[in-house]
Amino acid sequence: MNILVVNGPNLNFLGKREPEIYGNQSYHDLVNFLLAYGKLSKTEIEVYQSNSEGEIIDIIQDNYHRFDALVINPAAYTHYSYAIYDCIKSISIPTVEVHLSNIKKREPFRLISVIEPACIASFYGKGFNSYIEAIKYLQEGSNNNDN
Ligand code: DQA
Repeated sequence: MNILVVNGPNLNFLGKREPEIYGNQSYHDLVNFLLAYGKLSKTEIEVYQSNSEGEIIDIIQDNYHRFDALVINPAAYTHYSYAIYDCIKSISIPTVEVHLSNIKKREPFRLISVIEPACIASFYGKGFNSYIEAIKYLQEGSNNNDN
Protein backbone atom coordinates (compact mmCIF):
# COMPACT_ATOMS: atom_id res chain seq x y z
CA MET A 1 0.00 0.00 0.00
CA ASN A 2 1.06 3.62 -0.25
CA ILE A 3 0.34 6.44 2.14
CA LEU A 4 0.43 10.22 1.74
CA VAL A 5 1.50 12.04 4.92
CA VAL A 6 0.73 15.76 5.18
CA ASN A 7 1.95 18.00 7.99
CA GLY A 8 0.66 21.46 8.80
CA PRO A 9 2.09 24.74 10.10
CA ASN A 10 5.06 24.97 12.44
CA LEU A 11 5.83 21.26 12.27
CA ASN A 12 8.92 22.22 10.23
CA PHE A 13 10.09 23.79 13.53
CA LEU A 14 10.12 20.49 15.43
CA GLY A 15 13.11 20.38 17.75
CA LYS A 16 13.04 24.19 18.05
CA ARG A 17 9.42 24.74 19.08
CA GLU A 18 8.35 23.98 22.66
CA PRO A 19 10.61 20.92 23.08
CA GLU A 20 8.94 20.12 26.40
CA ILE A 21 5.76 19.39 24.38
CA TYR A 22 7.04 18.30 20.98
CA GLY A 23 10.42 16.80 21.85
CA ASN A 24 13.97 17.51 20.71
CA GLN A 25 13.92 15.73 17.38
CA SER A 26 13.72 17.78 14.19
CA TYR A 27 11.25 17.67 11.32
CA HIS A 28 13.95 16.01 9.26
CA ASP A 29 14.15 13.30 11.96
CA LEU A 30 10.38 12.79 11.70
CA VAL A 31 10.51 12.41 7.92
CA ASN A 32 13.42 9.94 8.12
CA PHE A 33 11.63 7.99 10.85
CA LEU A 34 8.48 7.66 8.72
CA LEU A 35 10.37 6.73 5.56
CA ALA A 36 12.37 4.10 7.46
CA TYR A 37 9.17 2.63 8.90
CA GLY A 38 7.66 2.61 5.43
CA LYS A 39 10.62 0.67 4.06
CA LEU A 40 10.54 -1.79 6.95
CA SER A 41 6.81 -2.45 6.55
CA LYS A 42 6.83 -2.44 2.73
CA THR A 43 4.64 0.64 2.51
CA GLU A 44 5.40 3.54 0.17
CA ILE A 45 5.27 6.78 2.11
CA GLU A 46 5.57 10.35 0.83
CA VAL A 47 5.73 13.17 3.35
CA TYR A 48 4.80 16.82 2.73
CA GLN A 49 4.70 19.88 4.98
CA SER A 50 3.26 23.34 4.52
CA ASN A 51 2.63 26.36 6.71
CA SER A 52 -0.34 27.45 4.57
CA GLU A 53 -3.91 26.20 4.57
CA GLY A 54 -4.37 26.56 0.78
CA GLU A 55 -1.11 24.80 0.07
CA ILE A 56 -2.12 21.86 2.29
CA ILE A 57 -5.32 21.57 0.26
CA ASP A 58 -3.38 21.79 -3.02
CA ILE A 59 -0.97 19.06 -1.87
CA ILE A 60 -3.90 16.76 -1.01
CA GLN A 61 -5.87 17.52 -4.19
CA ASP A 62 -2.84 17.14 -6.45
CA ASN A 63 -1.59 13.87 -4.95
CA TYR A 64 -4.36 11.85 -3.29
CA HIS A 65 -5.17 9.89 -6.46
CA ARG A 66 -1.73 8.21 -6.23
CA PHE A 67 -2.29 6.93 -2.68
CA ASP A 68 -4.40 4.41 -0.78
CA ALA A 69 -4.71 6.57 2.32
CA LEU A 70 -3.92 9.96 3.84
CA VAL A 71 -2.35 10.56 7.26
CA ILE A 72 -2.64 14.21 8.26
CA ASN A 73 -1.37 16.31 11.12
CA PRO A 74 -3.10 19.61 10.33
CA ALA A 75 -1.39 21.23 13.39
CA ALA A 76 -3.28 24.36 14.50
CA TYR A 77 -5.65 24.07 11.49
CA THR A 78 -7.07 21.02 13.26
CA HIS A 79 -9.02 23.31 15.50
CA TYR A 80 -10.67 25.62 12.96
CA SER A 81 -10.10 24.73 9.30
CA TYR A 82 -13.40 23.80 7.70
CA ALA A 83 -11.56 24.14 4.38
CA ILE A 84 -9.31 21.20 5.26
CA TYR A 85 -12.35 19.32 6.63
CA ASP A 86 -14.11 19.84 3.27
CA CYS A 87 -10.97 18.77 1.41
CA ILE A 88 -10.75 15.50 3.36
CA LYS A 89 -14.48 14.87 2.81
CA SER A 90 -14.05 15.41 -0.92
CA ILE A 91 -11.37 12.76 -1.50
CA SER A 92 -12.04 9.09 -1.99
CA ILE A 93 -9.27 7.67 0.23
CA PRO A 94 -9.46 7.03 4.00
CA THR A 95 -7.87 9.68 6.20
CA VAL A 96 -6.37 9.30 9.67
CA GLU A 97 -5.68 12.32 11.90
CA VAL A 98 -2.50 12.39 14.00
CA HIS A 99 -0.95 14.68 16.60
CA LEU A 100 2.36 14.47 18.40
CA SER A 101 0.92 15.89 21.62
CA ASN A 102 -2.20 14.89 23.52
CA ILE A 103 -4.62 17.55 22.27
CA LYS A 104 -7.25 16.31 24.73
CA LYS A 105 -5.09 17.35 27.69
CA ARG A 106 -3.91 20.82 26.70
CA GLU A 107 -5.52 24.27 26.29
CA PRO A 108 -9.33 24.22 25.87
CA PHE A 109 -9.13 25.40 22.24
CA ARG A 110 -7.26 22.21 21.34
CA LEU A 111 -10.05 19.96 22.64
CA ILE A 112 -12.01 20.51 19.45
CA SER A 113 -10.86 18.92 16.22
CA VAL A 114 -13.06 20.04 13.34
CA ILE A 115 -11.13 17.54 11.18
CA GLU A 116 -11.97 14.48 13.28
CA PRO A 117 -15.47 13.80 11.83
CA ALA A 118 -13.93 13.56 8.34
CA CYS A 119 -11.40 10.94 9.49
CA ILE A 120 -11.74 7.21 10.12
CA ALA A 121 -9.49 7.37 13.22
CA SER A 122 -7.32 9.71 15.29
CA PHE A 123 -4.04 9.00 17.11
CA TYR A 124 -2.40 11.52 19.41
CA GLY A 125 -0.11 11.98 22.39
CA LYS A 126 2.57 9.49 21.37
CA GLY A 127 5.08 11.77 19.65
CA PHE A 128 6.43 10.30 16.40
CA ASN A 129 4.72 7.02 17.29
CA SER A 130 1.30 8.63 16.76
CA TYR A 131 2.14 8.47 13.04
CA ILE A 132 3.23 4.83 13.30
CA GLU A 133 -0.03 3.92 15.05
CA ALA A 134 -1.93 5.61 12.21
CA ILE A 135 0.09 3.81 9.54
CA LYS A 136 -0.34 0.44 11.29
CA TYR A 137 -4.08 1.04 11.57
CA LEU A 138 -4.27 1.63 7.82
CA GLN A 139 -2.02 -1.35 7.05
CA GLU A 140 -4.21 -3.63 9.19
CA GLY A 141 -7.32 -2.35 7.40
CA SER A 142 -5.77 -3.02 4.02
CA ASN A 143 -4.73 -6.56 5.06
CA ASN A 144 -8.32 -7.22 6.12
CA ASN A 145 -9.53 -6.04 2.73
CA ASP A 146 -7.17 -8.47 1.01
CA ASN A 147 -8.64 -11.45 2.89
C1 DQA B 1 -0.27 19.41 16.99
C2 DQA B 1 -1.27 19.92 18.04
C3 DQA B 1 -1.89 21.21 17.60
O1 DQA B 1 -2.81 21.67 18.59
C4 DQA B 1 -0.83 22.27 17.42
O2 DQA B 1 -1.39 23.47 16.94
C5 DQA B 1 0.30 21.82 16.56
C6 DQA B 1 0.78 20.45 16.65
C7 DQA B 1 0.47 18.14 17.45
O3 DQA B 1 1.04 17.46 16.60
O4 DQA B 1 0.51 17.85 18.66
O5 DQA B 1 0.90 22.61 15.84
O6 DQA B 1 -1.00 19.07 15.82
